[in-house]
Amino acid sequence: MSENQNPQPGKDVTTSGAAGHPERFPDPGVPEHRLRLTDTDPAANKRTERLIALIFGISAVGAIACVIVYFAVRPDGTTQGTRLSTVLLGVTMAISLLGIGIAAIHWAKALMSDHEHVDERHTLASSPEVREVAVQHLTDGVEDSGIARRGVLKGAAVSALALFPLTFAVPLISSVGGDWNVSKFRHTIWTSGKRLAYDPTGRPIRATDMTVGSVAHVIPEESEEYMSSHEWITEKAKAVVLLVRLNPEDLKSDQSPAGETWSYDGIVAYSKICTHVGCPVALYEQQTHHLLCPCHQSTFDMADGAKVVFGPANRPLPQLPITVDDEGYLVAQDDFAEPVGPSYWERLK
Ligand code: FES
Repeated sequence: MSENQNPQPGKDVTTSGAAGHPERFPDPGVPEHRLRLTDTDPAANKRTERLIALIFGISAVGAIACVIVYFAVRPDGTTQGTRLSTVLLGVTMAISLLGIGIAAIHWAKALMSDHEHVDERHTLASSPEVREVAVQHLTDGVEDSGIARRGVLKGAAVSALALFPLTFAVPLISSVGGDWNVSKFRHTIWTSGKRLAYDPTGRPIRATDMTVGSVAHVIPEESEEYMSSHEWITEKAKAVVLLVRLNPEDLKSDQSPAGETWSYDGIVAYSKICTHVGCPVALYEQQTHHLLCPCHQSTFDMADGAKVVFGPANRPLPQLPITVDDEGYLVAQDDFAEPVGPSYWERLK
């Protein structure tokens, strides 16, 4: 690296045009170097240093606030409580991380060396001498940043950097020993007679609402009170179903091991959770009756028990046995006969 080795402004430079002919154009050169206020005014330099220290300080406060929020504002089981906790954690963590970023950028732009250098092209393998020079430049850079001289700034930066990891370390550590029992995935809230309802309105679905080729995203019908609870969010995630009406003649099988009918007049209901790694499958192609998972393209045949016809999933989507009640509403006959979701969860009935 060498300093101020750019060609002089106005000097003609020869280069090759697109057709290989030499062209001449005036080299614009490097714009005139303008000193920053912090280069010429020691008071401004000091002010900037204090401002950067303040931003690092705000970052540190954000990290501490994040940890306090984590313990003080626990989700209370309601949707609102969960949202409040999530938003406060996100905001405080953002303040902490943004503070570090803004302060570091401002430090580099306003206080660190503003010398212009020209870095000449060279072969990729550096000689020991060049490496020595590079190390020297790094050392000079550290010296240039003034970190050794600026004690306040150094302290503020170290505090902010040291406290930020707490924003994710504390939640991680405190979750050790938490509820990792996978048996909670063994059953969903579908039970015999529970009505199928549109997601997200919760309006129950009649069989006559479904025309051939139509698709509906379905949840179990529940009370408004239950649907605003924290438990509902978890249970809904397991119970979501895709409902499709096929022409009954196109239906090859509906998966029932004991030979019962699990569909109703061509209407079939399958878990929306992909059996590969759990993405929601929702891309239905009416002509082929294929249902595609957007994550890794597993494709399920809705006319043939949601068997896998392509992709990495290795078992069909679990089918929800359905029928209609006295009023013509679609209802579940029972829970899914097997665990929903990726194949590594097994379930005993
Ligand atoms: S999650 Fe569906 S294919 Fe991978």
